[in-house]
Amino acid sequence: MSGILRAGIIGAGFITVRGHVPGYRAAGGVAIAALCDVNEERARAVAQDLGILSVYADYREMLEAEDLDIVSVCSPNCFHAQMTIDALSAGAHVLCEKPMALTYADACNMIEAARKADRSLTIGFHNRYRPEMAAAKALIDRGALGDIYYARASMLRRRGIPGYGSWFTNKDLAGGGALMDIGCHITDLALWFMGHPKPQAVVGSIYANFGPRGKGLGTWGSDRYPVGARFDVDDLATAFVRFENGATLAVEASWAGHGTDGQRLQIFGTEGGVEYNDKLFGAEHPVRFFCEDGDELLEEPIDVPEACRSAYECEVSDWVQRIRDGRPPLTTPEEAALVVLIVESIYKSAATGEEVILS
Ligand SMILES: NC(=O)c1ccc[n+]([C@@H]2O[C@H](COP(=O)([O-])OP(=O)(O)OC[C@H]3O[C@@H](n4cnc5c(N)ncnc54)[C@H](O)[C@@H]3O)[C@@H](O)[C@H]2O)c1
Repeated sequence: MSGILRAGIIGAGFITVRGHVPGYRAAGGVAIAALCDVNEERARAVAQDLGILSVYADYREMLEAEDLDIVSVCSPNCFHAQMTIDALSAGAHVLCEKPMALTYADACNMIEAARKADRSLTIGFHNRYRPEMAAAKALIDRGALGDIYYARASMLRRRGIPGYGSWFTNKDLAGGGALMDIGCHITDLALWFMGHPKPQAVVGSIYANFGPRGKGLGTWGSDRYPVGARFDVDDLATAFVRFENGATLAVEASWAGHGTDGQRLQIFGTEGGVEYNDKLFGAEHPVRFFCEDGDELLEEPIDVPEACRSAYECEVSDWVQRIRDGRPPLTTPEEAALVVLIVESIYKSAATGEEVILS
């Protein structure tokens, strides 16, 4: 595919302004033709700021009126599946924000829509493009870990509830809380490092000990309401996943909790291990490789190239280039759907108190 690609964006919030618009501009050869938001006032203001000419309040009208090659779905989670399917059916390639969908069934419908339309579909797991994650992945791909059999994936915020009373804390709109919002990022990274084994069984628990009391609020989020506003999602989740190949994964995610915040990923293989832990190892060398040489235990800092662009810019540019080259996206929809399956199973297990058996 050559020539200028026409892009349309649904949602005029944080991720559009911080991620997708700079991403398309960095990609080059993309004209951001239209922006849509149900909040038309917000859409107009953002469009004016960013120099986007056409504004819509209804995404279906945008899809009909504009001849779009690319659509970004940056709306609240509950709309991702339908908007993606409609955009694919209108002939556009789609970059849908995470989480891919609220249910595995919806994620499968999105995959089917992409297949039918013969368009590229990817999901916004931009963390894969962070240099430290790419360095860890390269080490794993070189076979340095041997067979991977266990992973720990943790994304913990001490005070990070986004927009108290906003769509983020409304179960109908968000589908879930910390697990749905940031647990999906850490689960995606762990699965990517582990080579996407097939999940077999999931057990999990969720908690809401801060949000309902109006505590643990972060500094971001587009809307804020007083204490007592709707909060019916989790602010901490823990889970354990067993895979068909015998490997296991422990996941934890929080928006709020009494503990150190930060991200930690540990991947254990038969010949070596890799750990991302910027709190313990420092920001300069946050990734370490663990192995042994005879009796000697080795722990080596991994060199991470300096980022010259944001992970969002790298993600969007890479996806656009892959569309032009006719190559699949780095994050395939099938991979992202596995994250949805695990997240959905954690919520099911938490609701029933039972292990969820998948295969
Ligand atoms: N990749 C990441 O790390 C990352 C970071 C932030 C957000 N996100 C994801 O991006 C999505 C949007 O998050 P955000 O932080 O930008 O939220 P936001 O609240 O800042 O913006 C969402 C926008 O969507 C609009 N909207 C709601 N319903 C709509 C509809 N039916 N049609 C069109 N517009 C509609 C809202 O009016 C709002 O302007 C979420 O799914 C979120 O999970 C991803």
